[in-house]
Amino acid sequence: MAMLEARNVTKYFGRLAAVNNLSFDVKRGEIFGIAGPNGAGKTTLFNLIAGTYPCKGEILFEGEKVNNLKPYKICKKGIARTFQIPLIFPSLSVYENIGIGAHFGGDGRDDEKRLIAGIIDLVGLQGKENIEASHLRLFDKKMTMLGIALATQPKLLMLDEPAGGLNPTEIQQSVTLFERLNEEFGITLIVIEHLMKVLMGISERLMIIHDGEMIRLGKPLEVGKDKRVIEIYLGTEYA
Ligand SMILES: Nc1ncnc2c1ncn2[C@@H]1O[C@H](COP(=O)(O)OP(=O)(O)OP(=O)(O)O)[C@@H](O)[C@H]1O
Ligand SMILES: [Mg+2]
Repeated sequence: MAMLEARNVTKYFGRLAAVNNLSFDVKRGEIFGIAGPNGAGKTTLFNLIAGTYPCKGEILFEGEKVNNLKPYKICKKGIARTFQIPLIFPSLSVYENIGIGAHFGGDGRDDEKRLIAGIIDLVGLQGKENIEASHLRLFDKKMTMLGIALATQPKLLMLDEPAGGLNPTEIQQSVTLFERLNEEFGITLIVIEHLMKVLMGISERLMIIHDGEMIRLGKPLEVGKDKRVIEIYLGTEYA
């Protein structure tokens, strides 16, 4: 059984079909990539899976319908996400930020402190626990946001342009961490990314969307050779 299954998922904003009849599945343990031009509907798709907006069609998580559930219920089922622009609690410390994730997604376990400490190490924020989040540089803000998501102990983690705005060293560090989350912690990942080298490097399968519709889904190398994908998204110099 697929971990996540989207069947004819559709979302209109007024007369704009931001996500239009999308059907695909994400396998347990997979790293699933999503790319497409600006405004393609990528973030909206995350918003539908996370329960920000209701939608038409069906989204099944571990066989159970989750679309139209409230976001906190979807989180409790084991889906977490990060945002394109770091969304953290600016006036709280790194520790308190991650604590909110632990508290929100947790099951009231009493080893919450250990969970938080482990995540701070994992995302490389040790020594920065007490810094107010608004004072962090972009990379550390992104790691704090990732820490919040991880503290909810997700089975499925959705990352929205995690490499955006980072330098090559930070991107490499992020990629290593994502692969660790996947391999060592068994977290299934869906990654939206414009940096195709990064995305093709980590994705087992890649879906290209445009105007809310699927253009191609397959192995990264096959997708990269697709005529329509080159025409709509990658450009001929890429091919
Ligand atoms: N809450 C909203 N209300 C109205 N229109 C919206 C809303 N959210 C997104 N849209 C529109 O839906 C379309 C898809 O937007 P979305 O943010 O999902 O694109 P995207 O693929 O994530 O783009 P980008 O690569 O720029 O992040 C766009 O035309 C956008 O303007
Ligand atoms: Mg987006």
